[in-house]
Amino acid sequence: MRIDLISIFPEFFDVLDLSLIGRAQADRLLEIRRHNLRDYTEDKHRTVDSPPAGGGAGMVMKPEPWAKALETVLEDTASRPSPLAQSSSESSSELGSPLGSVTRALPVKPTLIIPTPSGEAFTQRHAEELAGAEHLVFAPGRFEGIDERVTEWAAEHFQLRRCSIGDYVLNGGEAAAVVMIEAITRLIPGVIGNEASLNEESHGETGLLEYPVYTKPAQWRGHQIPEVLLSGNHAKIAQWRREQAEARTRATRPDLWTRYTAD
Ligand code: ADE
Repeated sequence: MRIDLISIFPEFFDVLDLSLIGRAQADRLLEIRRHNLRDYTEDKHRTVDSPPAGGGAGMVMKPEPWAKALETVLEDTASRPSPLAQSSSESSSELGSPLGSVTRALPVKPTLIIPTPSGEAFTQRHAEELAGAEHLVFAPGRFEGIDERVTEWAAEHFQLRRCSIGDYVLNGGEAAAVVMIEAITRLIPGVIGNEASLNEESHGETGLLEYPVYTKPAQWRGHQIPEVLLSGNHAKIAQWRREQAEARTRATRPDLWTRYTAD
C-alpha cells in the first residue's frame, strides 16, 4: 500500500516510522510519503489560509495549494503505476478536465481521506475496507477547515471519504489521520506478527468488546488470575471468555449490546 500525507506539519507523521508501521515500511509492505502543503504555495509567506467568505471567526485553508499538492500526487502515481493495481470502470467522469488524461492513466482512483469532525464516523469496518486499498491519500486540514471546493474538485479524481474519528474537535486532522492509518495498516497481511491476535479483538466479527486478559504471575499484589484460565480446559476457557465479553459489552457499550442481541 502507498500512503501520501499532505500537511503543513509533515513532521507530525514521524510517529509512523516507529514500531509495526515503521517495520512495515522497512519490509516494503507500506510506502509512506509526506508532503509539505506550503511547498505548493506561490507567495513569499507560503500562505495557506485566508479569512472565511461570508465572515466569521478563524481562517479557512485556501484551495489552490491543496489542488496543486493533490495534482502532484496524481501525476506521480500515474507515472509509476503499481503492478498490483486492478482496473476500474469509474474513470469516465473526468473526461475533459485538465487532469483527465492523468486520472485515466490510473487503473484505480486513489482514495482521498479528509479527516474532519463533520465527516462520517470512522469505524473498524472502514479500516477493514481501506486495508485492501492500493493507494490512500490523507488531506488533514487545520484552522476552520479546507475550502469546500477542494472536495468538489477532488471527487472527480479520487474516491473521496470525509471521516471523523469521534465526536470531539482536535486542533487539526493530523492526529486523526495517524489514528486511521494505524487502524488500517495493522490489517494489511504481514504487518502484525501474530495475525491470530486480530480474531477476538474488540470491534471484530463477534460484535463484542474483548474479554479481560492476564499473564503470569498467577498471584499479583493480592489479585489472582481467574481459576478457569489455569485449568487447561479450552472449551471452558472459551465459554468464560465469551461470557466476560458479553458482560463487558453490556456494561460499557449498551449501543453495541443492543446491536449484538438484535442480530
Ligand atoms: N479534525 C478535527 N477534529 C477531528 C475529528 N474528530 N476527526 C477527524 N478529523 C478531525
